[in-house]
Amino acid sequence: MLEAMQIRLAEITDADRDAVLAVRVRPEQERFVASVEKSFQDARDNPEAQPWFRAVHDGPVPVGFVMLSWGLVPGPGLRGPYFLWRLLIGAEFQGRGYGRAVLDEVVTLLRAAGATELWTSCVPGDGSPEPFYRRYGFLPTGEVDEDGEVVLRLPLARDDRGQG
Ligand SMILES: CC(C)(COP(=O)(O)OP(=O)(O)OC[C@H]1O[C@@H](n2cnc3c(N)ncnc32)[C@H](O)[C@@H]1OP(=O)(O)O)[C@@H](O)C(=O)NCCC(=O)NCCS
Repeated sequence: MLEAMQIRLAEITDADRDAVLAVRVRPEQERFVASVEKSFQDARDNPEAQPWFRAVHDGPVPVGFVMLSWGLVPGPGLRGPYFLWRLLIGAEFQGRGYGRAVLDEVVTLLRAAGATELWTSCVPGDGSPEPFYRRYGFLPTGEVDEDGEVVLRLPLARDDRGQG
């Protein structure tokens, strides 16, 4: 049986940087998500996107990586202020609830920051993470972005589920 999952989103230090870089998805998933290394580079190259990233830990070894735009100013090609930019769970750790647990942690942090919605986008098609996001509660917006990715939005305000 599954035990209660207790993950931690941790800042990346010089000591564990290589272990985080070693987190890899399955080869056939590489068309859906960029690597951790590319994510670090994108974060450096796009400061206006307000990158915020963390390693996902369940014990000492990182099992995943998550990166958001945290508080960007929305504009052409920039959805926000909160946008889930990268989410990867290492191939050997997938299917154990880590992806959902990361979203739970991120949602808790975002709600505490007063966020009312979280945006993301993903490549559609066979093996796409879109069903994972839909299952979590992300709603399709009907938009397709400039890279051909479908745009999804997760409402975070407590009254969004009609309970006022
Ligand atoms: C997508 C990803 C983050 C999901 O993480 P995970 O830890 O394997 O997912 P979980 O175990 O938390 O799964 C949660 C639920 O989503 C379902 N699910 C997960 N991935 C899915 C997929 N690709 N298609 C359909 N359902 C999926 C699970 O079956 C589970 O369903 P349940 O509610 O019935 O138990 C992970 O598979 C991954 O890193 N994929 C490659 C990178 C990627 O595509 N990232 C997203 C970039 S936009």
